[in-house]
Amino acid sequence: MWADGVTVIDHPLVQHKLTLMREKDTPTVEFRRLLREISMLLCYEATRDLELTTTTIETPLATMQAPVLAGKKLVFASILRAGNGLLEGMLDLVPAARVAHVGLYRDPKTLVAVEYYFKAPPDIAERRVIVLDPMLATANSAVAAVDRLKERGAAEMKFVCLLAAPEGVHRLRDAHPDVPIVTAAVDERLNEKGYIMPGLGDAGDRMYGTK
Ligand code: PRP
Ligand code: URA
Repeated sequence: MWADGVTVIDHPLVQHKLTLMREKDTPTVEFRRLLREISMLLCYEATRDLELTTTTIETPLATMQAPVLAGKKLVFASILRAGNGLLEGMLDLVPAARVAHVGLYRDPKTLVAVEYYFKAPPDIAERRVIVLDPMLATANSAVAAVDRLKERGAAEMKFVCLLAAPEGVHRLRDAHPDVPIVTAAVDERLNEKGYIMPGLGDAGDRMYGTK
């Protein structure tokens, strides 16, 4: 554990794929594929504490009590645009989950998160929410998204990202100590433009080829 409430997934497959994503010459199509693969591995860890119950089933040989998911259902809350890169792999693993979309962009000068879209399932208060964004830099976007989801009633949340800056981790933990963070790496620092160093550049642009 990097700090209280922060889990860094140091699994070799995650670390190897993350290195490929960081490489500046990795093409868009490969970047998206790697993000989808890593998102499944992050989902595996982020859902580790889901509750189970048992149900009676018939195998070809016997009757048994077999484990099945119980308890609260999931919502994946994707912070647009780049959150959608994590969403696809998560939905591959938990196809019955509901999805919320929080449209935010960072003003490039002030780094303030500006909301342009919000849509969430009406029963979000009764569900566990996993908030998705590959990048936790200043945490302005993450804090704004969690604020907004709480306003709508979300009570139980986790934040899952690919890369975090120490500054962003501290900010999100201070603002929302009830929201644990799951990440593949915590890098060195933010640069003067609010980019994670050494990082991987602009996640949205690299995913969609917009720069
Ligand atoms: C990026 C990234 C995060 C945000 C992180 O989004 O996907 O949402 O920056 O930075 P922060 O922690 O300093 O808020 P961006 O605003 O570039 O929008 P995009 O996903 O549409 O490219
Ligand atoms: N958003 C990104 O996409 N990359 C960073 O390094 C910081 C914010």
